[in-house]
Amino acid sequence: MADNKKKLLLAAKKARKKAYAPYSNFHVGAAVLGGNGKVYGGCNVENASFGLTCCAERNAVFAMVADGQRRIREVLVIGESDGFLPPCGACRQVLAEFAAPATPVHMGNRKGALRSTTVGELLPFIFRLEKGKA
Ligand code: THU
Repeated sequence: MADNKKKLLLAAKKARKKAYAPYSNFHVGAAVLGGNGKVYGGCNVENASFGLTCCAERNAVFAMVADGQRRIREVLVIGESDGFLPPCGACRQVLAEFAAPATPVHMGNRKGALRSTTVGELLPFIFRLEKGKA
């Protein structure tokens, strides 16, 4: 396995252990590789008001941005499903804000097996705000 993927898998597994998911009991870990070479982990954080829940992927991206990085080089997400866990629609839009269409996204299952795709494959039509045209 490539070095970056190994690092991302390790960070995502570590983050998944911290998931706060008392309502769904579905623990998710994600990791993004920043333009600076640093890996940022995130876990899902649920809320009694269900709609306020934030996914692992978004929390990883937000940790990266809070550290001053705005470019995602690679993404990995791992859940507790038998199948490979694809980022939800909201997370795809958030990933696309900071990633290129060719940015790799690795999707894991509970056993740690990975299937790879790209941000562009997951979200071919990205919403972008055309500033000053409102
Ligand atoms: N979840 C994620 O963290 N990432 C995804 O891509 C899909 C869903 C979380 C949200 C919620 O805490 C739980 O999984 C069940 O939907």
